Amino acid sequence: ILISVPRAVLSVSPQKWLAEGDSVTLICKVYSSSTGWTFSWYTLTASSDYGNQYQLLSDSSRGAGGNYTVSSAAVKHTGVYVCRAERGEPAYKTSYSNKQPVWVTGVSPPVSLIISPSRTQHFTSVSLSLSCEDQSNSDRWRVRSYTDHSGMEDCSSRWASQTGSTCTFSSIITSDTGVYWCQSESGENYHPVNITVHYGVILESPVHPVTEGDTLTLRCLYQHSTPQNPRADFYKDGSLIQNQTTEMIISTVSKSHQGFYYCKHSERGESPKSWISVTGESQLLAFLPVS
Ligand SMILES: *[C@@H]1O[C@H](CO)[C@@H](O)[C@H](O)[C@H]1NC(C)=O
Ligand SMILES: *[C@@H]1O[C@H](CO)[C@@H](O)[C@H](O)[C@H]1NC(C)=O
Repeated sequence: ILISVPRAVLSVSPQKWLAEGDSVTLICKVYSSSTGWTFSWYTLTASSDYGNQYQLLSDSSRGAGGNYTVSSAAVKHTGVYVCRAERGEPAYKTSYSNKQPVWVTGVSPPVSLIISPSRTQHFTSVSLSLSCEDQSNSDRWRVRSYTDHSGMEDCSSRWASQTGSTCTFSSIITSDTGVYWCQSESGENYHPVNITVHYGVILESPVHPVTEGDTLTLRCLYQHSTPQNPRADFYKDGSLIQNQTTEMIISTVSKSHQGFYYCKHSERGESPKSWISVTGESQLLAFLPVS
């Protein structure tokens, strides 16, 4: 006899990387039998070798019908979500669904993740430091990671050491590639950043969004560099935009420069792709008093 256990499956629409103010819907479905379920919604607060800890969302009932929609995302909505479903009397509960991260980037989050060296792509076997910095220089932040390989982890469980709000890796490997962010003691998540670890060739690009009108400089870096930095070709969204150059400079950035970039050297290979986002003109203007 084949008994199929109802299984909750979670998906995110339209995408898991959002800007503040965007709308996102988490969709929970039960496979094998679809009717009569009530859904509950959780965030993952911690995970370890011994299991995961979930916290029921305070407004979980909003998503009881199977769709949990955030119509205007705030930076604090960043997190790893799961759902589960129940029905009947006595209640039958499914186990927790698959995990779905949602990343919200904002103009001025209450804490910033500072990466050193300051770029999103890094070579294997070097050291890397990640630090959460807020206005008051407090120690109450933890650096967290989410990798394809291990899901969500505390930075210190990735062969790194955490001192105060700083996490230091003495030697990184390709499976450290993932999203890193700052988590408060109460479990709020801020400032997610993609970090890519790669052997051979990497692209040096800014960690933070570039402001319209600013200058953007991209370089191709080589793990085994020669005295003279070799020339490379630069690509945006898959098309060649500049060939045979040591660095690519865009002097006045506009919205159209937003996209995925990588560089390629004929013998040494190509770098991973990095997303470069462009934000509107200096946000400061928005705060000028109206006279
Ligand atoms: C690079 O650009 C030059 C000049 O535009 C062109 O002659 C050459 O074929 C290009 N090389 C590649 C590899 O596209
Ligand atoms: C992170 O990388 C993904 C693609 O893997 C991209 O869609 C997303 O926009 C990136 N986020 C940031 C903040 O660069």
